[in-house]
Amino acid sequence: MNATPPPAVPTAPGGLPLLGHALPLARAPLAFLTRLPALGDLVRVRIGPRSVIVVCDPELTRHVLLNDRVFDKGGPLRERGRELLGNGLITCSHADHRRQRRQCQPSFHPARLPAYALRFTDTARTVVDDWRPGQVLDVVPTMMALTVRTALTTMFATPPPARAARTLTEDITTVVEGVLRRALTPAVLRHLPGPERRRYDRARTRLRTALAELVTARRADPAPHDDLLHALLHPGGPDGAPDVPPPTDREAVDQLLTFLVAGVETTAGALAWAWYLLARHPRIEHRVHRELDTVLAGAPPTLADVPALTTTGHVLTEALRLYPPLWLMTREVTEDTVLGAVPLPRGTVLGISPYLVHRRPDRYPEPDRFDPDRWLDARPDRTAYLPFGSGARKCIGDRFGTVQATVVLATIATRWRLEPTDPRPPRPSALSTLTPRGLHMRITDRTAPQSACADPVREPDCQW
Ligand code: HEM
Repeated sequence: MNATPPPAVPTAPGGLPLLGHALPLARAPLAFLTRLPALGDLVRVRIGPRSVIVVCDPELTRHVLLNDRVFDKGGPLRERGRELLGNGLITCSHADHRRQRRQCQPSFHPARLPAYALRFTDTARTVVDDWRPGQVLDVVPTMMALTVRTALTTMFATPPPARAARTLTEDITTVVEGVLRRALTPAVLRHLPGPERRRYDRARTRLRTALAELVTARRADPAPHDDLLHALLHPGGPDGAPDVPPPTDREAVDQLLTFLVAGVETTAGALAWAWYLLARHPRIEHRVHRELDTVLAGAPPTLADVPALTTTGHVLTEALRLYPPLWLMTREVTEDTVLGAVPLPRGTVLGISPYLVHRRPDRYPEPDRFDPDRWLDARPDRTAYLPFGSGARKCIGDRFGTVQATVVLATIATRWRLEPTDPRPPRPSALSTLTPRGLHMRITDRTAPQSACADPVREPDCQW
């Protein structure tokens, strides 16, 4: 009897000669992605001459994430990422990962979180102190400026001055966008000179130079500092393992840049979506306000308050489900293997998408609906909830990012409400991380009377 042939992997429709699916992926990546599960558990997508197999099934996605030796970091995103970040924690291969992870772990030790949380709150308070009622914010850059500032105050006890911080914010946005755009651009086009390429190269050089100067200055300073850089340069310290060697200067710059690139736009995106979702759902917003007034009673939030801020936490959990900032990740198969029933030769590139998994109706009833209460009795499912990835390569800054988003949201919402200026929903931009680019919101004093039901921009089915 003949053995059944392995199932073929279907190719997504609409590919063009030479470009493959690069155009729909660049123009409307989320719409493109959500059409794929109807075609199969694994679907082939082409970027120029290269093929990426997108994993649409949650169990297979988890299998890939948990087997990080066979499904190692790889593919166009990682290659472009390495040009920017060097061999940092997020881009290094399996062979180097365990050492690097142990080296970085002390910087994110839970014992450091109470001090970090104080800096998150202080930074948020400093930023909103400058806000005026009626002011209109461009929400994504505003949240970016805030998270760059919190990142710098936690990384360096004495952060760079405001102008340098502004340049850093712009440069981080440029390089994060540049990495994804370059990953989706076929090589022939990527190497063409032009203003975009020059802007990217300039931003990259400026960032690395600034961080290298900070590392050199710190090496020359024997005093202990209560910050992330100190923990990074002394991994065998009280929160670490004594046998972990400290990083070289180059490794330290790679890691600092990795933390900035991986941590800043992701957290800013989560916050921006949370503001938008709260404004569109005034009953939930009202519950968040009540919770803040009860739990904090006007005091600034600390780490100890976070567990009691349950509705606020569920809002963020749900915002990260609907709009996971890292919506696409890639892996490369390091030895011939089988995924599902499909044989995959060594060198196959896989695409993993938390966005796609989070929008599956078989995992989340009414998956497109914002419903923080779906988390009331349920803990996030390890297979179907992946905003921070999973397995050995899971986000090292997950607690750092969650605590930061919670205390920043709490600090701002204690005082301000944000309302969209445009009734149309923002178009999710997946150019780099997933953000509501172009979202403008007017800030009002929270003590002013609520007019939610009369406002067509806000929740259409508002009943109070
Ligand atoms: C809401 C905020 C955040 C989200 C949604 C997020 C998401 C993710 C995801 C999905 C991964 C896995 C990538 C992969 O498997 O290919 C990851 C890894 C990583 N993240 Fe985050 N992240 C956030 C905040 C942060 C923060 C604040 C930092 C640092 C300050 C950070 C640093 C990292 C690093 C270094 C890695 C690589 C870990 C490794 O490979 O061992 N992230 N993040």
